[in-house]
Amino acid sequence: MNAWQSGPFILNVSSGDIKAFCMCGLSKTGPLCDGTHKITDIKPEVVKFTEDKRLRVCGCQKSKRLPYCDGSHNG
Ligand code: FES
Repeated sequence: MNAWQSGPFILNVSSGDIKAFCMCGLSKTGPLCDGTHKITDIKPEVVKFTEDKRLRVCGCQKSKRLPYCDGSHNG
């Protein structure tokens, strides 16, 4: 997969927000899904948040706990 950027995206979400995170790595609007996955068998990770949060979303696509950053961009 190609990286969107070298480090994580910082994303603020509010309780009630629904986000669809790209899991195929092909989105042009990463880290969010843009529908490009339709050419694959991969589906986005859709999350409904129940609290306000600041997220660290993987931008390098090396994380082992996608769609979230696990620090893998450091090495
Ligand atoms: S575009 Fe990648 S999961 Fe939707």
